[in-house]
Amino acid sequence: MSKPTFYITTPIYYPSDKLHIGHTYCTVATDAIARYKRLTGYDVMFLTGTDEHGQKIEEKAKEAGVTPQEFVDRIVTGKCGILDLWKLMNISNDRFIRTTDDYHVTSIQRIFRKMYDNGDIYKGAYKGKYCTPCESFWTESQLVDGKCPDCGRPVHDAEEEAYFFRLSKYAKPVQELLESGEFLKPASRVNEMINNFIKPGLEDLCVSRTSFTWGIPVDFDPGHVVYVWVDALFNYATAMGYMNERYDDYARYWPPVNIVGKEIVRFHSIIWPAMLMSVGEPVPKQVYGHGWLVIDGGKMSKSKGNVVDPYVLAEKFGVDALRFFLLRTFPFGSDGNFSNELLINTINTDLANSLGNLVSRTTAMIEKYFGGTLIPEREAEAMDEELVEMIRGTAEKYAAQMDAFQLHLGLEEVFRLIQRANKYIDETAPWVLGRDETKKARLATVLYNLLEALRVSLILLTPFIPESCDKAFVQIGAEREARTWAAASEYGVLPADVSVRKGETLFPRIDTAKMLEELEKLHQTAKKPESKPVLPDVTIDEFARCDMRVCKILRCEAVKKSEKLLKFALDDGSGTERQILSGIHKFYEPEDLVGKKAVAILNLPPRKMMGMESNGMLLSAVKEIDGKEVLHLMLVDDDVPVGSQLC
Ligand code: MSP
Repeated sequence: MSKPTFYITTPIYYPSDKLHIGHTYCTVATDAIARYKRLTGYDVMFLTGTDEHGQKIEEKAKEAGVTPQEFVDRIVTGKCGILDLWKLMNISNDRFIRTTDDYHVTSIQRIFRKMYDNGDIYKGAYKGKYCTPCESFWTESQLVDGKCPDCGRPVHDAEEEAYFFRLSKYAKPVQELLESGEFLKPASRVNEMINNFIKPGLEDLCVSRTSFTWGIPVDFDPGHVVYVWVDALFNYATAMGYMNERYDDYARYWPPVNIVGKEIVRFHSIIWPAMLMSVGEPVPKQVYGHGWLVIDGGKMSKSKGNVVDPYVLAEKFGVDALRFFLLRTFPFGSDGNFSNELLINTINTDLANSLGNLVSRTTAMIEKYFGGTLIPEREAEAMDEELVEMIRGTAEKYAAQMDAFQLHLGLEEVFRLIQRANKYIDETAPWVLGRDETKKARLATVLYNLLEALRVSLILLTPFIPESCDKAFVQIGAEREARTWAAASEYGVLPADVSVRKGETLFPRIDTAKMLEELEKLHQTAKKPESKPVLPDVTIDEFARCDMRVCKILRCEAVKKSEKLLKFALDDGSGTERQILSGIHKFYEPEDLVGKKAVAILNLPPRKMMGMESNGMLLSAVKEIDGKEVLHLMLVDDDVPVGSQLC
């Protein structure tokens, strides 16, 4: 009989930067679910990947002086990149999709055309507020004081030709789907979607862009690229062979379970099913919106240093310990506050003390009292019953939680059994039995029961800490057939004369103070601002064309109605005053600058800002430190003559 199938996905991550512990959390959780499903007999397809198009990546690549493809290649396939990270974290994905893969690009063009042909995509006009110098569209709510939020200049109403998807047409079926109860989990997210997005009215969605080129071209209208979310969402289908010849697994695995972070639930539970309805394909079996890991209640970001770098954490604590911590500590549907203290405590309490100790004490006692191999004689007592019952019953309770993706509660069931077994050691006092030759059969029974409790616990822990479980199975003498799902609800699976093998300590105890100090040191090093890569070469002639001179600041005043701009009157040595506008009010007050000498580039084309002309630009030294921009105007000593040229 063929196995039932189960298809599960993570979001496809943006390769715009290195991934942090938050992304790792989602991938590890999805991996644990995939492993659990395989364990329980499913034919599993587990997909992850990268979402490689879009304006942000295009800009980042430009900043780095490389092509967008080179940029994403480095982050995805480069050393310590995304693929390396998933290998390190022991992620068991069956497939990895990159949205720049040829087959995906072809499929998206076909999908876009299909929706165009069926009338769900139409050409219209994108209306918004446009800032000409920045070449950017803004919505009313994005404007700052009615001006461009980037440069502070006025914006005007503008229209741009664009394609739209008839999202409004699907408002009703999507609402019904959301209300069906099974589609979007946890249930708390359903009302949020209906009240915040469906009830106020779904508008058609702009699904093409013409303002940048790093995307999948609309093949029948080449100036347009497909909106990155359309490109991204369909990855789950194209990776199975939908609308392409590269794979042939769509019929077998569709529809998927999409695991996503809460911030992208809207895309996955409204836009995604609507587009699937449009192309006539089944919607996902479930979209699960997990919570966020936060630090001190705030968002994770690079500026928090490498405490959130999964490479560093895995190296310091071990891959399994890190995987375990992430899934044991935070309820999957809610936010969780990440901290090193919590990480260390969890490892020490659960892995080193409860589980690690149970393995080492049990195997050590079997070595000590039986030379490593139990005698087959048994002598049961009433006090064994509760433990034996838990050995038989834990898997079922665990499965109920795991099937609902309540991973932390699944683990809770396992640790209830482990704690019960530890208590059983105290109750039966094997060291007392060991002193009495007539109690050998009783002692063997106690130790056997402990091994059985461990065996079942390890089966159930395998999806979370696979490598450690493999090692521990060897230590307790559990062969392949004793590690199966069926064997997880049975008592008496290990042979009566089982042999144990002492092995390495699975989870060494961590010295909290010492580790925190080490991590703090690393954090400080990481906080040292990173320098940007050097831009591509310019020739000396190109450089010499920049006319940069020392200017004296004669007057300086804040520009009315602008938070950023200062207006400068400068003596550039030519005999006529020069006016320059500069967006540095956040860093300087006008009175601090009058009389000082600064450096300006004079031969930039004149530019209008807030209706005034700026003839050149004052030079500043700029750096991002702790996530904040720090700016210093290039001021020179008073004895440098006005008009001196930089060369
Ligand atoms: N590329 C889109 C997703 C497209 S899916 C068709 C994207 N990428 S992302 O790189 O920003 O990754 C987002 C996902 O990473 C979140 O939805 C979440 O699963 C995970 N996380 C990112 N930061 C996280 C935390 N701080 N905590 C938990 N998960 C986090 O959005």
